[in-house]
Amino acid sequence: MRWTTASHLLTLCFSLATSTQAGRSDDISAQVGHHVVFSYPGLNPPTHLFDLIKQGKVGGIILFGENVADNISTIISDFQDAYKQSSTYVGSPLLIMTDQEGGIVRRLPGGPVQSAKQVGQSSNPRASATQSGKDAASALRNYQVNTNLAPVLGVYREAGDFLDNYGRSYGNTSALVATCGPAFISAQQAAGIIATAKHFPGLGAAGKTENTDEVPVTIDLTLDEIRAVDEIPYTKAIPAGVDMVMNSWALYPALDAKYPSGLSKAWIQDELRGRLGFQGVTITDAIEAGALHAFGDDAARGVLASQAGMDIILASARNVTQGEAVVTALVSALQDGSLSQESFSEATDRILALRKKITV
Ligand SMILES: *[C@@H]1O[C@H](CO)[C@@H](O)[C@H](O)[C@H]1NC(C)=O
Ligand SMILES: *[C@@H]1O[C@H](CO)[C@@H](O)[C@H](O)[C@H]1NC(C)=O
Ligand SMILES: *[C@@H]1O[C@H](CO)[C@@H](O)[C@H](O)[C@H]1NC(C)=O
Repeated sequence: MRWTTASHLLTLCFSLATSTQAGRSDDISAQVGHHVVFSYPGLNPPTHLFDLIKQGKVGGIILFGENVADNISTIISDFQDAYKQSSTYVGSPLLIMTDQEGGIVRRLPGGPVQSAKQVGQSSNPRASATQSGKDAASALRNYQVNTNLAPVLGVYREAGDFLDNYGRSYGNTSALVATCGPAFISAQQAAGIIATAKHFPGLGAAGKTENTDEVPVTIDLTLDEIRAVDEIPYTKAIPAGVDMVMNSWALYPALDAKYPSGLSKAWIQDELRGRLGFQGVTITDAIEAGALHAFGDDAARGVLASQAGMDIILASARNVTQGEAVVTALVSALQDGSLSQESFSEATDRILALRKKITV
């Protein structure tokens, strides 16, 4: 179903209510809202976030450890209720997401207890990855979290490097990662939780201190090596039906010497969608990442990412104003034509199709 069809009723409501410019811009912001994931600080979500949900400006919320106490399920129900009561409700829940990779990277109580590295080193990696996917799904379901920003599909290169340091990579061969990643994805998605393969085309060659959250990172591999090693797990995860792909904020000059993968048409459109055939939803890594300091403020980065083909922008600075700034910038970019309405609406269709699958 096309967004233009999906939004028909909404448009009608707005045109009945008002035929002013304000009415049209509310309609655009309700579309843009689906594309922006918000975050907030601490254990008490601000009232303003609930107001924005009711206005349809929020597509989802990412949770961090600092947001999680015993009452997180109640808080998530409150988010979903606020959205259901809103005139912008499209009939499916907000995306509620977190990083539940396994091992030490877990934001919610519960599994997977094993890190990706432990899964890869186990006697039966495929079975362990399947169990981890099931465990992640049950932890998320317990708290009504419907989306996992996992698994990591990076193929690490050196002991103790960026991914290996915290046991986040299944292993140092693409065969092992391509066995474990899809097993995790299939098990978790079969249990009704959206999975995200990250960070395309891979952070396996990043050195220990090369953290895109903090600094610009260049991964200077040849295209042949990226395709022969780092992309192999994606060639298995995509046919396995992975729902989302998160692009990395590293720069890979082999295909694009200017824009990091998540801001790069070449990586998103030509390589991920074109060559590898991914038809699902793309999501950015943290839009506030230090890797992007050369690309303007968070709002400008959100526009660049959307122009390049990222469907969802992750405003994860635990600051509601940040998400609002991204929404405002995307509305302006659609209004002044710098962002293509046609491709943006195709992205909206993908996001709404994904949200229809949610059972949590
Ligand atoms: C949730 O629980 C925590 C810890 O008990 C508490 O500090 C916080 O105020 C609660 N938040 C809400 C919104 O009830
Ligand atoms: C992977 O790591 C093992 C053990 O540390 C090492 O023996 C092997 O050569 C590595 N393989 C590759 C492809 O780097
Ligand atoms: C929140 O985000 C806005 C917009 O990106 C920024 O201007 C502001 O400084 C941020 N506030 C905090 C406390 O980080």
